[in-house]
Amino acid sequence: MGAFFRDCVPKAEVFQSNLAMARGFRANRIVLVVYRWQGRGCCVSPVTQSFRGKELKPSESLKIDAFSMRIADIEGIDLDRLHAHSLSVGWPHRAEDWQFLRESGQGFVALDEIGRVLGSAMWFPHGPDFATIGMVITSPRLQTLGAAQWLMKRVFDKIPGRDLRLNATRAARRLYLSLDFQPEKTLYQCQGIVRVPTKGSAAQSRGDMRTLDAGDIRTVVALDAAGFGVQRTALIEKLFAHSTGYGLFRESKLTAFALCRPFGRGHVVGPVVAESDADAAAVLRPHMADHSGSFLRVDTHMDSGEFAAFLSHAGLPVFDTVLTMSLGKRLADFSVGGLVVPKTYAVASQTLG
Ligand SMILES: CC(C)(COP(=O)(O)OP(=O)(O)OC[C@H]1O[C@@H](n2cnc3c(N)ncnc32)[C@H](O)[C@@H]1OP(=O)(O)O)[C@@H](O)C(=O)NCCC(=O)NCCS
Repeated sequence: MGAFFRDCVPKAEVFQSNLAMARGFRANRIVLVVYRWQGRGCCVSPVTQSFRGKELKPSESLKIDAFSMRIADIEGIDLDRLHAHSLSVGWPHRAEDWQFLRESGQGFVALDEIGRVLGSAMWFPHGPDFATIGMVITSPRLQTLGAAQWLMKRVFDKIPGRDLRLNATRAARRLYLSLDFQPEKTLYQCQGIVRVPTKGSAAQSRGDMRTLDAGDIRTVVALDAAGFGVQRTALIEKLFAHSTGYGLFRESKLTAFALCRPFGRGHVVGPVVAESDADAAAVLRPHMADHSGSFLRVDTHMDSGEFAAFLSHAGLPVFDTVLTMSLGKRLADFSVGGLVVPKTYAVASQTLG
């Protein structure tokens, strides 16, 4: 028997889960769940032991103890832990992307007893009346138990009275509807290995194209505000510092621009602001050339027209969609007379809007 025990080397986590399973049996029974040792470090099917000649089978269900979480500021959390958290739901963010977001906004995390990040929610204020919301994630282990709603209510407490905008994944729509967010329009996540389209009217766009530099920030902020509906100086300055930018100028006036920065699996282009599809494609084209053969992503509200076609010709088909939603002022309320010229052709990111 001693030798038998010595040969039974369960893997810690499997052992733990079976220990919990064993707790499902009546307390006055002795249950032993062990693993046969097979070769190196490999645990195989559990062997159920018998007691007084009766075979004891583990129950088909397992009751996990309730556990509590505590809320903490996202500021002090290791980037690696935040990275692991977004990976748990399959999001592409790198540690550097979390760092960028943390420097651009504020947020909460939900931590378990041993400090693992199981939930997050962030907000990005622009001026006194407006904010975007993003990085709302609860780990699969916690989902549908009310954790996201709990985090969102904590966010609301921090930014009362602001108009809010966010991009909701399919999984999150019900959550935001229950919090009174209103659906606005679909955002198309276009991505792939980019190749510069050989056809398209982008080449015919009139004006002078050049890379943007620090001297252009003020006009970029103004053009972005016209497209987005809210001035977001600090964010655009920060994006500018991390991006390469191209601008289209007519009579020395900036009429369209596109910023591109490293993100996730490759690079993301956004924001792209322009007065026409042709101009938007024109400022995107040099980024495509810079990253030809690499992974590029563009998140756009354009579902048809020249710009949407340009993306698909460039090898950036729609990969997924999210729904832009707002609470408070609606999207149309941010435009003058119901029309926004110039328009935001690509958002900075789903999180930032
Ligand atoms: C979306 C997400 C944050 C929801 O988190 P959660 O902790 O499960 O949400 P809650 O438990 O607080 O649920 C809130 C509401 O959504 C509902 N809900 C949550 N998940 C659901 C699902 N998969 N299907 C249907 N309804 C769901 C809940 O029932 C609840 O509705 P109710 O108020 O009518 O009862 C979580 O699923 C997640 O992190 N998904 C992956 C990342 C993601 O998509 N984030 C959203 C970014 S916008």
